[in-house]
Amino acid sequence: MILIGIVTVSDRASRGEYEDRGGPAIREYLAEVVQSSWEARYEIVSDEQDAIAEVLRRLASSGCCLIITTGGTGPAPRDVTPEATESVCHKMLPGFGELMRKVSLEKVPTAILSRQTAGICGQALILNLPGQPKAIRECLDAVFPAIPYCIDLIGGPYLTTNESRLRAFRPAK
Ligand code: MTE
Repeated sequence: MILIGIVTVSDRASRGEYEDRGGPAIREYLAEVVQSSWEARYEIVSDEQDAIAEVLRRLASSGCCLIITTGGTGPAPRDVTPEATESVCHKMLPGFGELMRKVSLEKVPTAILSRQTAGICGQALILNLPGQPKAIRECLDAVFPAIPYCIDLIGGPYLTTNESRLRAFRPAK
């Protein structure tokens, strides 16, 4: 079974002060795009670097091949998701953040405020998304075509996509 971690990083959602909209938006996106059968491992965590890092490590070591976070990527004092991500990754993949900021800038000038990044923790690809639910689709549409091949390269399961919705790119051997 393919396991995908979905992590909402938000003080207020973790305290139940508002309903998490980011986590369900990621799940909905994946249900549309991923054809292989998969299961979500869903977590909500406060904007605390150590707590986020603990959740990321736990999901990676419990077999998630992909972990998608939402929230905590901006410049505010409590935005520490990229730091937590870097602290658990042995290799960073800055191209993901570069591409997501590029496509997001076509939608909103404040896209440059997101420090979203990606990296490898064990055999899991960790990907940060901003907290705005509408950012989730915009960012994932841009980077998802490269995700299945990235998971191949780190020794994960062979992920297939619903090709009428989104085509995974795997270079010809
Ligand atoms: N990217 C997209 N595609 N759409 C958005 O609405 N919001 C921006 C930016 N990136 C946004 C976006 C804003 S306003 C901020 S502050 C940063 O993401 C960081 O958001 P976060 O702290 O919720 O992660």
